[in-house]
Amino acid sequence: MKIAVLPGDGIGPEIVAQAVKVLKALASDGLKIEMEEAPIGGAGYDAAGDPLPEATLALSKASDAVLLGAVGGLKYDALPRDKRPERGLLRIRKEMNLFANLRPALLYPELASASTLRPEVVAGLDIMIVRELTGDVYFGQPRGIEVRNGERVGFNTMLYAESEVQRVAHVAFGIAMKRGKKLCSVEKANVLECSELWKEVVIEVAKEYPDVALSHMYVDNAAMQLVRNPKQFDVIVTGNIFGDILSDEASMLTGSIGMLASASLDANNKGLYEPIHGSAPDIAGKNIANPLATILSVAMMMRYTLNQESAAQRIEAAVKSVLAQGLRTADIYTEGTKKVSCSEMGDAVLAAL
Ligand code: IPM
Ligand code: MG
Repeated sequence: MKIAVLPGDGIGPEIVAQAVKVLKALASDGLKIEMEEAPIGGAGYDAAGDPLPEATLALSKASDAVLLGAVGGLKYDALPRDKRPERGLLRIRKEMNLFANLRPALLYPELASASTLRPEVVAGLDIMIVRELTGDVYFGQPRGIEVRNGERVGFNTMLYAESEVQRVAHVAFGIAMKRGKKLCSVEKANVLECSELWKEVVIEVAKEYPDVALSHMYVDNAAMQLVRNPKQFDVIVTGNIFGDILSDEASMLTGSIGMLASASLDANNKGLYEPIHGSAPDIAGKNIANPLATILSVAMMMRYTLNQESAAQRIEAAVKSVLAQGLRTADIYTEGTKKVSCSEMGDAVLAAL
């Protein structure tokens, strides 16, 4: 199994290094894993003048799975838009056709007190957000900034083709079938034509999944319901930008955005795995970032792309065990627990593994 390792920028290299330790441990236990590293984001720009260097894309396409850290940094913000780190990330998602982004928000009981919500609201939380990842206002044409009537206007196009909605809906229904058989489709059909079509297509696809209870919710209400009563949700399916926003919100239910892993899959379950958080330039290089989201992304890689369910469960059990031991990085630290660094957390997971 060949894994492309793309650490990226900011805390990316620190957190990916911890996940690589886990992969090496699995390899020494007999999993046939081969890893190769390549730059992306600002690191790609520094190395090759491109946030997604050709060689990085070629390596990623030739690999079975991709492990990514995070991209972005202040020093790249002044670059022309197509050279910015985020473009590298958006392009690799698009080029590899990774349209289904799975973002599980799972509360580890040990972290209930790290959430800003009352423990009883979040205890036992287990939501899966399925975010469409290669369409919507992120990619719709036309887009730009231009002068109209003597002033600048900025514009983007929110656009979904039926086929794009269908394929992500199938993924979401499939996941719902394996979970609590409840799917909530989130859109803004009361205002947007794009959402109106989304909803219609989801209802059509639902006919093939009579066992799944489908509901619909406007995104503003969904944002509210997520903090009011998050446990009403099982699987949520939504478009690219709504999913971007709601998954950050959902992450805080679990105590920290540093805990949320993600899988971005194509039609054949080939995938890219990354934490949902960003490159956190403010804490980069300090060895204090939380590597658990990245390590949990490796578990998802084992499950969804490499078909190594037992390895996935071993990793998840190891993470549970370090939390039960009371070890916490700064973002999930609460009184009475033991604060550890990024690399110490990685070592602890390794030991538990
Ligand atoms: C995410 C991030 C990215 C996104 C950024 C870094 C381009 O916020 O993966 O959620 O908007 O998709
Ligand atoms: Mg985001």
